[in-house]
Amino acid sequence: MSASRIAVLISGSGTNLQALIDARGEGRMAGDIVLVLCNNPEAFGLQRAAYAGIPTRVINHRDFASREDYDRVLISALEDCQADLVVLAGYMRILSPLFVRHFEGRLINIHPSLLPKYPGLHTHQRAIEADDREHGATVHFVTEELDGGPPILQGRLRIDDSDEQQLAQRVQREIEHRIYPQAVDWFVRGRLSFREQHAYLDGELIPATGIQWSNENPPT
Ligand code: GRF
Repeated sequence: MSASRIAVLISGSGTNLQALIDARGEGRMAGDIVLVLCNNPEAFGLQRAAYAGIPTRVINHRDFASREDYDRVLISALEDCQADLVVLAGYMRILSPLFVRHFEGRLINIHPSLLPKYPGLHTHQRAIEADDREHGATVHFVTEELDGGPPILQGRLRIDDSDEQQLAQRVQREIEHRIYPQAVDWFVRGRLSFREQHAYLDGELIPATGIQWSNENPPT
């Protein structure tokens, strides 16, 4: 295994963190989650990590004068735990270029839309308002462009409800919690890589919208 130490950054509920913990526990995902880092002392995800016996660290951004100062401390916490892969799982802060450059190629995020559609916030509402028939989530490498790094894995569902919260929950349950462990597993096993702003699986260029995931026929 080429990259076994995983650090997860969270800010809130941590259902994606839970999906990673469960996948690891059930042998569906390789690697070890060695640290959960959080900017919000109240985040429920911290309890999920503690319950799973994973070390946690809270570094509150309110204690820092600038984003760069904060990100420098984050970088050293992640270097201290020798993270091979940094996984953003509902981490609600914009990362400085300093941070992104430091971890480029080993920094991934999950975004609740069919990227390149709807980067940024309120993705579910935007998809409903646009009368889209489909919506979903995308795992991607993080680059300096917000939600603009190369997609890795993307899952979609039909929009059959017009309630933003219900749709968000379906996207999490049916897509996010399935595709994120898969993408992390690929990385840890050395199958996923990032070169010159592109993502590769098993040495092959991943298409611009990511590998398409379906529940009936999930990629392995
Ligand atoms: C997820 O919907 C993810 O797509 C977005 O933030 C949310 C985090 O949820 N980046 P959780 O904390 O994992 O429950």
